[in-house]
Amino acid sequence: MSDKLKILVTGGNGFIGSHTVVELLHAGYNPVIADNFSNSSPGIVENIERITGKRPAFSETDICSESETQKLFLEHGPFDAVIHFAAFKAVGESMEKPLMYYHNNIGSLISLIRVMQQNQVSKLVFSSSCTVYGQPDILPVTEKTPLKSAASPYGKTKQLCEEIINDVCTVEKLDAVSLRYFNPAGAHESALIGELPLGIPNNLVPFIMQTAIGKREVLNVFGGDYNTPDGTAIRDYIHVVDVAKAHVSALQRLYSQHSHNGNEIFNLGTGKGNSVLEAINSFEKTSGTKLNYKIVARRSGDIEKVWADTSMANKELGWKTELDIDDIMRSAWNWEKYLASNV
Ligand code: UD1
Repeated sequence: MSDKLKILVTGGNGFIGSHTVVELLHAGYNPVIADNFSNSSPGIVENIERITGKRPAFSETDICSESETQKLFLEHGPFDAVIHFAAFKAVGESMEKPLMYYHNNIGSLISLIRVMQQNQVSKLVFSSSCTVYGQPDILPVTEKTPLKSAASPYGKTKQLCEEIINDVCTVEKLDAVSLRYFNPAGAHESALIGELPLGIPNNLVPFIMQTAIGKREVLNVFGGDYNTPDGTAIRDYIHVVDVAKAHVSALQRLYSQHSHNGNEIFNLGTGKGNSVLEAINSFEKTSGTKLNYKIVARRSGDIEKVWADTSMANKELGWKTELDIDDIMRSAWNWEKYLASNV
């Protein structure tokens, strides 16, 4: 069945998008990438082709623009389903430029759903985030854990997008799956695609890699006084290839008899939390490289600890993680070395 299905992947050139396109191709789907290069580079399609032996169609489109999106559907459709990644994702930047985040992240979803409706496309996989939970009172976090006020405009856009999808699903023909990612990291084992942070990275794993390769002098560990076993904050780091495979499972869900009409929500994590120091140890062990780091003050807006209960995704999507934090560090390090010798 998957052979015949043409899947629009917005933001398909980005970090999670590009890995998902690879998994879609492996599974026999026909993905079409739409991306405006706002946080990605043009060489990705070639590398996807090198990995899979298949070249996905590509369209340079800003999904916020309804006319551009309509043109995309006319030129590359008809689409059977859409996976929507295209969004801004830097928490700190969203605090400085809230309007830009609301405009881009909310605007692109509205424009996309409107054009989907005009073209009778009713299946959507949405890229959400564990940031919607804030600092939860009880761990691990299940999909039923009450949402707290998000700490950043970025987080609020994810909450609002989920609400928009919920509301549309109740009155229109739209079936959706929203995937709440915990902390995606790592790279493809080929080292041909991975995370390409613009400027100074905000996220831990890219910062570790850039420090180890010599682009940054020292990794600041934000906070050594948290209420955790080693005093550093805990997150659920999930390998990007596991995240990508969950999107294939989510699509299958939308085509299965189990699909509910509405917006189904799943956590994507490993179910295990690692502290910042554990992440550093994993890096040092797998790479054989010492990392220059120092413990500094907490970063404002950070939460202390969060990790996922993944039983819903395991049971309902038939998906589970296959890789762990060592695989994340090994693959991210191979990718960093590839970048150093190729860019
Ligand atoms: C946050 C969001 C996540 C979102 C991501 C996008 C939450 C719980 N998570 O992730 O949903 O997808 O931003 O950017 O809101 N750290 C250091 N030094 C560094 C960088 C990070 O010590 O140089 C620490 C942080 O303090 C944190 C951990 O590493 O404890 C992970 O940080 P990061 O990779 O930035 O991700 P989150 O902030 O958890």
